[in-house]
Amino acid sequence: MHFRVLLHLAVTLLARPAVADETTTINASSNFGTWDGWGTSLAWWAKAFGTQTALADIFFTRNTISFNGKSLPGLGLNIVRYNLGASSTNKDPDGDTMVVSPDITPSRQMDAYWLDWTSTDPTSASWSWTVDANQRNMMTLAIARGANLVELFSNSPVWWQLYNLNPSGSTTGSTDNLESWNYDQHAIYLATVAAYAKAHWNVTFTSVEAFNEPSATYWVGPSGTQEGCHFDVSTMSTVIGFLRSELNSRGLTSTIVSASDEETYDLATSTLGGLGSTALSQIGRVNVHGYQYGGGRRDILYSDVSAAGKKLWNSEYGEGDATGAQLVSNLMLDFVWLHPTAWVYWQVLDVAGWGLITADNNAKTISAPSQKYFVLGQFTRHIRPGMRILDGGSSYTVSAYDTTAKKLVIVAVNTGAAQIINFDLSKFGTPGVNGALVQRWATQIGTSGMQYTAFNDTFISGTKFSSNFGQNVIMTFEVQNVVI
Ligand SMILES: *[C@@H]1O[C@H](CO)[C@@H](O)[C@H](O)[C@H]1NC(C)=O
Ligand SMILES: *[C@@H]1O[C@H](CO)[C@@H](O)[C@H](O)[C@H]1NC(C)=O
Ligand SMILES: *[C@@H]1O[C@H](CO)[C@@H](O)[C@H](O)[C@H]1NC(C)=O
Repeated sequence: MHFRVLLHLAVTLLARPAVADETTTINASSNFGTWDGWGTSLAWWAKAFGTQTALADIFFTRNTISFNGKSLPGLGLNIVRYNLGASSTNKDPDGDTMVVSPDITPSRQMDAYWLDWTSTDPTSASWSWTVDANQRNMMTLAIARGANLVELFSNSPVWWQLYNLNPSGSTTGSTDNLESWNYDQHAIYLATVAAYAKAHWNVTFTSVEAFNEPSATYWVGPSGTQEGCHFDVSTMSTVIGFLRSELNSRGLTSTIVSASDEETYDLATSTLGGLGSTALSQIGRVNVHGYQYGGGRRDILYSDVSAAGKKLWNSEYGEGDATGAQLVSNLMLDFVWLHPTAWVYWQVLDVAGWGLITADNNAKTISAPSQKYFVLGQFTRHIRPGMRILDGGSSYTVSAYDTTAKKLVIVAVNTGAAQIINFDLSKFGTPGVNGALVQRWATQIGTSGMQYTAFNDTFISGTKFSSNFGQNVIMTFEVQNVVI
């Protein structure tokens, strides 16, 4: 045991109440980039519930929303990912129809705009622009409420571009399903929809992503439960090149290509290393999913992406823990090791545990938000786009700074026994005003308890402030008049 800790124990045993305490020092000179924001993928939940404006208010504003008899703090998400569909019921010119996995529910079949290969002209009968109205509606509602970063992504190329005509994956899952003569056609589909969205929906996609967990071998058509498609890394590089040119030829030169939305940090690192210099120069951002949870080398991915001069987003995260404990643990690991500049939850409405609000896309029923909803709000409502991400000084603290407002945001979690945590601001030029109020909000990680409860009981003392954390409590603090 460290001497400082021993000494500390002796002191705290004398002074009642006896609590161990911790100090974390916010590093005012650190800078892990400018925060782009928080988001959700649309896809299934928006297909089911995309007409409900109350849901748009809940997820895309920071207003207080009355919902099912409860008052909810809006999450203020500003990123949406629109899932370009791969499914349709028409016959192709050969007379074939889509092969449907027996286990996919209709709620997970996303409608395709491009119906057959006869014409690439979006005004021709090969295209239907009326499908997928609900998902499109939720995208529009989100943008109207302030969502400013919109990504178009594909889980699988449209079915008629695939060897087995099944958008749930190839027959084994470990081989490419996109026909080799359709590499450019997949890019044309994405770019045409992006151009059409700009011209007709007033939606300018920030980025377009052609793949979803492409190195995985679990996109097996016959047993699939969603749209999915394996791509070898060399195929990814080819498609990226086509996508860049198809966007450019439609005037979308400032729409970036993102890649490759791999499932894990480690796969993202190996795919990035295998794309080759040409494809690498054609992508504007690396997207990675957070499904490696507590495992994997986030630090290596961060250093490789930084060396390549690209942005890095955690573009998809989800798990079935309704308490919020896993979410906090993995998000803290992301802030400390991965340093993404955006973080996107998969499905904000989903089955119990996975959804921030529990919902059934098939029965079209919505029930209550979980504690996880409020846990995420502790971050999303305060760490806002444009803020500079700082090193919070410990594995349990994240911090962000708003230069214009001179506001410092700190989010910290205590998973052990109740204790006081001291936040040392001595590294700042001006660490706030002595005696000034530090507003705080608290949520109990678990199955009940505080849900984003606000308190005005914390004050700066010299160059620090302190707060008494119960076990498994996450808190957010806002310190005013801080100058770096
Ligand atoms: C604070 O951040 C700066 C800039 O990244 C770094 O050089 C310094 O080592 C950090 N200080 C501590 C105590 O980690
Ligand atoms: C188009 O979108 C922009 C930005 O989202 C918005 O400011 C503008 O009002 C929209 N225009 C129309 C005609 O809806
Ligand atoms: C705390 O103080 C701020 C600023 O005076 C005020 O806007 C807010 O409503 C107060 N919150 C609580 C919980 O009293």
